[in-house]
Amino acid sequence: MEWLLLLCVALSLSLARANSSYDYFRLPTALRPQKYDLRILTIMENVEDLRFNGTVKIQIEALQNTKNITLHSKDLTIDESQITLRQISDEGSPENCITSTEVNPTHDFYILNTCQELLPGHIYELNLPFSAKLQEQLAGYYRSSYVDPVANKTRWISITQFEPASARLAFPCFDEPGYKAPFVITLGYHKKFTGLSNMPVKETKPHESLPDYVWTEFEESLPMSTYLVAYTVNDFSFKPSTLPSGTLFRTWARPNAIDQCDYAAEFGPKVLQYYEELFGIKFPLPKVDQIAVPDFSSGAMENWGLVTYTEGALLYSAEYSSQGDKQDLANTVAHELAHQWFGNLVTMNWWTDIWLNEGFATYVASLGMENVHPEWRSMQFQSVSNMLTIFQKDSLESSHPISRPIEVVSQISESFDEISYEKGSSVVRMMHLFLGEESFRTGLKSYLEKYAYKNAEQENLWESLTEAAHKTGALPKDYTIKTIMDSWTLQTGYPVINVTRDYTARTAELTQERYLLNTNISREHRDGCWWVPLSYTTQEEKDFNNTSPKAWMECNETGDSLPRTIKDLPGPDQWVIFNNQLSAPYKVNYDAQNWKLLIETLNSDEYQTIHVVNRAQLIDDVLYFAWTGEQQYDVALQVISYLHRERELLPWKAAFDNLRSINVIFRQMPNFRSLKGYIKKLITPIYEHLNGINDTDLSIQHPDQILLRSMVANWACTYQISDCESQSLSYFRKWRSDVNPDENNPVPISFRSVVYCTSIKRGSDEDWEFLWTRYQKANVANEKETIMDSLACSLEVWQLQRYLEINFDPKGEIRKQDSASVFQSIASNKIGFLLAKKYLMDNVVSISKFYHPQYEYMAELLPPLSDQIFTRKDYHEFKTFISKSKEQLKDIEQATNQSLEIILTNVQWKERNYEKFTSALQKFL
Ligand code: BES
Ligand code: ZN
Repeated sequence: MEWLLLLCVALSLSLARANSSYDYFRLPTALRPQKYDLRILTIMENVEDLRFNGTVKIQIEALQNTKNITLHSKDLTIDESQITLRQISDEGSPENCITSTEVNPTHDFYILNTCQELLPGHIYELNLPFSAKLQEQLAGYYRSSYVDPVANKTRWISITQFEPASARLAFPCFDEPGYKAPFVITLGYHKKFTGLSNMPVKETKPHESLPDYVWTEFEESLPMSTYLVAYTVNDFSFKPSTLPSGTLFRTWARPNAIDQCDYAAEFGPKVLQYYEELFGIKFPLPKVDQIAVPDFSSGAMENWGLVTYTEGALLYSAEYSSQGDKQDLANTVAHELAHQWFGNLVTMNWWTDIWLNEGFATYVASLGMENVHPEWRSMQFQSVSNMLTIFQKDSLESSHPISRPIEVVSQISESFDEISYEKGSSVVRMMHLFLGEESFRTGLKSYLEKYAYKNAEQENLWESLTEAAHKTGALPKDYTIKTIMDSWTLQTGYPVINVTRDYTARTAELTQERYLLNTNISREHRDGCWWVPLSYTTQEEKDFNNTSPKAWMECNETGDSLPRTIKDLPGPDQWVIFNNQLSAPYKVNYDAQNWKLLIETLNSDEYQTIHVVNRAQLIDDVLYFAWTGEQQYDVALQVISYLHRERELLPWKAAFDNLRSINVIFRQMPNFRSLKGYIKKLITPIYEHLNGINDTDLSIQHPDQILLRSMVANWACTYQISDCESQSLSYFRKWRSDVNPDENNPVPISFRSVVYCTSIKRGSDEDWEFLWTRYQKANVANEKETIMDSLACSLEVWQLQRYLEINFDPKGEIRKQDSASVFQSIASNKIGFLLAKKYLMDNVVSISKFYHPQYEYMAELLPPLSDQIFTRKDYHEFKTFISKSKEQLKDIEQATNQSLEIILTNVQWKERNYEKFTSALQKFL
């Protein structure tokens, strides 16, 4: 008997060893879940003891012989005595069992060694009971709270956030996007609450033993990935939408915010319906719930049928939310609903292709917004904003390809970045523009239909689009989408096209190379080749609306670029512009004569004959070229001096983005006075044209002009232009003297941010306290956000120091989700910069604990610091800090690399351009 026991122990040890030796971060591929049955009881009676327990029943198909079931599970207590396993696919030998279990904490694996081998073709049913606390971390199944103002009591709710890899914190599962399965979810909770999940309620019945508790079972879902599962137990109210199509649509919020749901309830169904038409595929679920969660890690999450939002991204108040807030809200709703097709119906196989989710949702959202609110010109606005972001982020050597191999788990979270979102979106738009409407739509529809309820890779999309494009003739037969698009999604960076015209032959010679911000990298190392769609127009033609390519820059088989000659161009007195309406992500540099012609037109009454998007392009391009030394600052300043005529948002946005980078360095230098004078001169005309920050015409203005006005006002007050400061202070005084400032706010909504900031900057301690009290009392998230950022405008060292401490106090009044933004605001303040830098360096250990386990937040703390560092000595200090804090910063390697590179390029700028820029400025003062 003893020897048998020994043999058993030895056997299970050897199995354990075999399993422990599996040290790859992906799940083994021997098994596939076929269906989940998830029952969860949520207990929220006692603040000290908020918890849940449940069982998950998973039907698992074996694809290969295996003696273990490897699942994901993290921070869950599993009652091993209750685990059962049996074979359910046929009559033979149903009973199986578990010999032992193991945990691999590095990969969050929970490994069950089985008594008998699981055989391919058979289906097994595994039952696992589990329990855990409802934590405060904003991931997994967690708790959130709000204060009920009537009872003056804290109310608790429970909610999920699973993407990318936190379903494993809520129940044991195969937590990879490729493992799709239908879910039957049943929630148990006290009957005073409401339970919501992805699907509509099937039935509710009393709990078998707990008095006043109920079980609510939801309909079986369609096959879906674990990261899209969602459920919540809450005491919220909802606003129903009235929608022509069959989908039931409800918008949920805490009861005291229910009147802020109207706009989302109106916009959501409109955009959902538009997508049904756009994709030619009906929304497959019977209902959508969208819910505003007080504590929420990101802006929003697209869970299928139960979309979750942070309050600021879903709730709209006509008295408190600005035009910008409203557009952001619509964009977020449009984005999450776009995911219902791109992401939920068809899901990327693995996180490498997260851009198929995020890039598409970003692009499709701008189509949706354009459709519902054409007056916002969202397509134009988003295209330019996206390009401005890409031109910055992707000019770093430390950037990465859109389709990005994942080598370690932390890279999954890091992939939700500007490259997946903004660059992803811009290459989708590029395809839309070069393919044309018909091929684009047909290709997408066939891709969505073919992979519905399944997973896909970018290759699959290329195939569907190529097929459609060849059918319609939108693409020559010897071109494939794959050849073109691989150059954009598998390579890091973007090209600059150098255009050299021959004015007598009327031709232009085009070459390409990677555009890099780091000027120490030699020409030979700027390799890469992109298939570039070349649209262009001339001074004579001025046809910026034609965005289909007249020619292509091509690459040969070895990946080298082939130079391209463009013929039939005009003579020496006429300019050409490439990349109409920024239809693809590339920069264009011209010869001196062409720039001269462009400068002449811009600085004349004819400036509007250049499309507004291309005016923004010229500003951004020339300022980058001056920064990296490919153009003289003299030329760049001649280009932007036309801005005294400019009245449109986008060119100003491009200019402000660029001036900001220079400003945060230059303001620390002895020659700052020149830049101040220059900026004053540049901005005064537009400030006056827009009537400063007077509250006249606010209601009748075009939305673009409202956005432009707030942008200009921000700069105007910073540079003490005209009456900006005095007007701000007087609005604020008026507000402060009101007997009921929480009910009456005389400050025009679009100027609140600038008025509050200026008043805190110039104001007293009492002003700070006054605004802090308004923060505490505010019931609208958008107003809270504006106040939070404005409180960081103080120039008092002690105030800022105290604010930093309040911000990272786990029991403090700033929610964790907002702390990175508050830190950024403090760090962007000229006095706050050094304080914030020191605070981070001194407290990195406690800040890291504060964010545990969502270290990705820490990535957001670095950019406002690195933007302002420009000496070699400070570069080394930052580098030393990063290497000393390896442990705390190990999950944000991408952000630390980018920050170091940014500092290096700032150092280069200072060393190369400081004097040159100062002297160039003199001519324009
Ligand atoms: N799928 C994301 C949410 C997400 C982000 C989950 C990062 C896990 C990690 C969602 O669709 C999203 O992109 N949300 C954006 C808002 C959107 C309007 C760009 C966000 O939260 O910022
Ligand atoms: Zn998204």
